Amino acid sequence: MEFSQKIVLDFVNSRYQKKNHIVMSKISVIGAGNVGASCAEYIAIKNFAAEVVLLDIKENFAEGKALDLMQTAALNGFDTRISGSTNDYTKTAGSDVVVITSGIPRKPGMTREELIGINAGIVKTVMENCLAHSPNAIFVIVSNPMDTMTYLAKSNAGVSKHKIIGMGGALDSARFKYYLSTALGCPASDVDGMVIGGHGDTTMIPLTRMASYKGVPVSQMLSSDVLAKVKADTMVGGATLTGMLGTSAWYAPGAAVSVLVQSLVCDQKKMMPCCVSLDGEYGQSDICIGVPVILGKNGWEKIIELELNDEEKAEFEKSAAAVRSMNSAL
Ligand code: LAC
Repeated sequence: MEFSQKIVLDFVNSRYQKKNHIVMSKISVIGAGNVGASCAEYIAIKNFAAEVVLLDIKENFAEGKALDLMQTAALNGFDTRISGSTNDYTKTAGSDVVVITSGIPRKPGMTREELIGINAGIVKTVMENCLAHSPNAIFVIVSNPMDTMTYLAKSNAGVSKHKIIGMGGALDSARFKYYLSTALGCPASDVDGMVIGGHGDTTMIPLTRMASYKGVPVSQMLSSDVLAKVKADTMVGGATLTGMLGTSAWYAPGAAVSVLVQSLVCDQKKMMPCCVSLDGEYGQSDICIGVPVILGKNGWEKIIELELNDEEKAEFEKSAAAVRSMNSAL
């Protein structure tokens, strides 16, 4: 095939895919700090959205990040338009998905839970402002403590529970796969596994029993000691980075958001562990906590109920109790 023919064919294929798979395309990212900007960057690089609006309270900050990112468009080959706004929520109007990253990040030695007082007020205000301009949006909550902030977002009357999704499990699962891959000496993309439960150093539950290396249970390849270490490293994955960087991590959180948002926007129906409202599933109610869900154009569309063994069930109950006690601080 001639080179020019190939270019035309690639173009037609990409248009065809866009037409057939993208069902929505305006995404607002609230908070243009490290995590928010990283979300915008990964979303743009994957080229599935028409528009990303970055919003921040700091004068000209989101505008600057948007401008810098737009100047990578020719280099990275994306068509997504990124714009910035200083606290003007009218710019977010008609968003299909809103990602909330606002709030103060963790500092070394701080737990996610210690952020609750300050971040609850911020997330509540942000949610109200976004809803006023995008009443039908799906909300992805990143601000910490994420399980409690998702619970707070869910308490907004009139918003379907299916449209409130906490991003924690997708990130924690990526860290889990990373630590498994280093133990196995293989690429992380060959590993599968999920982390359910809360997004906290002591509440997350890496499901080592169900993790696999190309379909082979990792328990057949790694000793229980090694698996226990992988589990422990995963649970403090965020804290380890906070200690090294002096603030919260942003590349993996941003990438995790982009994968989650792509499944929503392109109606991919991917299964990912996310923090959602439970009504009896996993024996829990009146709580938002991480469980595997199917993500499509309607938000989280279905909860997948895994057959947990007694040990895993006990861990889930303990995790839910800790999340619930954190929610009571609201
Ligand atoms: C982390 C933060 C984003 O786990 O919660 O890195």
